Amino acid sequence: MRLMVVLSIGLLAMAAAGSVYGRYRSSSSEGGDEPDGELWALLVAGSNGWYNYRHQADVAHSYHVLKAHGVKEENIVTMMYDDIANNPANTYKGKLFNGPNWVDYYEGVNIDYRGDDVNSENFLNILKGNSSGVRGGNGRVIESGPDDRVFVYFTDHGAVGLISFPDDILTTKSLNDALNWSNKNKRFADLVFYLEACESGSMFERVLPSNINVYAVSAANGKESSWGTYCENDRHLPCLGDLFSVSWMEDSDVEDLTTETVGQQFKIVQKETNKSHVCHFGKMKTEQDPVSWFQGADKLSKHARNTQRTSVHHRLETAVPSREVEIQYLKKILLQTNDADEAEIIRDRLEEIKMKHAHARRTMKRVVSELYDDNEDTLTENTKRRVFYMEKNEESSIVNYPECHHKVVHTFRRLCVNPTEDMEYFMPYIFVLNNLCNAEAGRSHDIMEAIIEQCLVKEID
Ligand SMILES: *[C@@H]1O[C@H](CO)[C@@H](O)[C@H](O)[C@H]1NC(C)=O
Ligand SMILES: *[C@@H]1O[C@H](CO)[C@@H](O)[C@H](O)[C@H]1NC(C)=O
Ligand SMILES: *[C@@H]1O[C@H](CO)[C@@H](O)[C@H](O)[C@H]1NC(C)=O
Repeated sequence: MRLMVVLSIGLLAMAAAGSVYGRYRSSSSEGGDEPDGELWALLVAGSNGWYNYRHQADVAHSYHVLKAHGVKEENIVTMMYDDIANNPANTYKGKLFNGPNWVDYYEGVNIDYRGDDVNSENFLNILKGNSSGVRGGNGRVIESGPDDRVFVYFTDHGAVGLISFPDDILTTKSLNDALNWSNKNKRFADLVFYLEACESGSMFERVLPSNINVYAVSAANGKESSWGTYCENDRHLPCLGDLFSVSWMEDSDVEDLTTETVGQQFKIVQKETNKSHVCHFGKMKTEQDPVSWFQGADKLSKHARNTQRTSVHHRLETAVPSREVEIQYLKKILLQTNDADEAEIIRDRLEEIKMKHAHARRTMKRVVSELYDDNEDTLTENTKRRVFYMEKNEESSIVNYPECHHKVVHTFRRLCVNPTEDMEYFMPYIFVLNNLCNAEAGRSHDIMEAIIEQCLVKEID
């Protein structure tokens, strides 16, 4: 009798492992609480442009990590601008590498949303499973239900309380509203979110509700940069990956995910990504679940494309703060080139970047000065405030007022950032807007007035 049961469970497990990709079946003898339902995944590279090579390489790699572990293709939705593999600057046409193993991860990746279809509206609707809200792409969304698990991986630039898309932004309010909505509407039993971006901790800290079935890991805390890696490489490409991202992927590439827990992966990645503080938020109980519930249960050996981990040391050695990737790359070429024209172009570009940063900072300063001007009897008080809010303080990275932050950041972007220009130069100063929301206890009215006055009225004058 006992033998029969064991035998038939064994057969079932074998049958499942062979055919039902994406459905978790425990191969361990403990059995126990195997979840029903399917695994869905949403993979997003939020940037475009040659110097952001690494984000699309990360996402292409992540696609293969999941697929190799048996997640069904039709359960994975991928968003990437797709301007890198065939970029004129790419001397390895049609290929994307995510590390010095030089595996081409572009091959075989299914891209569902590319170009302008990679935007925050689509992202939120895909996440919520809202087909009618999606524009462009192939229209696929996460069609998960109450028993399913969802894995979201996003890699790009970020700032306090926001992450970037090629042509727009997503605030912590919008993201957490969508997660909360999906939780309430039973779109999943559990969701795991891996986020690589500068200041990414600020997307979840104190904003992600702690009583919903969402567990999130961020590459950095709310105050610091995340890091690109493999920035020095034999093929003279920009950084091939991001430090946090390749750390979890290279781990998943070699581990048996049915025995490694989410918490164990977190610990490994946190230890290896020690240029920033990898943080975790939300439902901590998820850390006891096997990684396979979120990344697939198949053992990799038979599919293995990449069973070699690069040394942690090499990754750290070749790491560059995310926001300095282009500058450092240009400076490197400048040292190497003998071509006077090329050198001239690079020097101009470096100068331009410097000016754009200075302009961004000046614009923030004008808004702060408008808000706390000297036309009152609070003159010295306001002088102090003007200086104080331009600097980071303890609460700068904490979005205490998501609603205010959301309104102010969007208004600022619309009115103060040249629409043909990248938001990226403003990213290091977004904390100033958050300072203002914190200072005004979430009342956005005066801050909006100051933005309108400085960026609309004065610009028109
Ligand atoms: C789904 O998309 C439609 C069309 O854009 C929109 O009106 C609706 O609010 C969306 N639903 C959710 C839950 O976001
Ligand atoms: C999350 O959703 C619940 C249920 O709809 C709601 O009561 C709560 O206020 C929401 N929390 C946040 C932070 O939006
Ligand atoms: C990060 O880890 C590396 C390799 O383990 C070690 O050499 C280095 O000292 C660590 N750096 C920090 C800041 O802890």
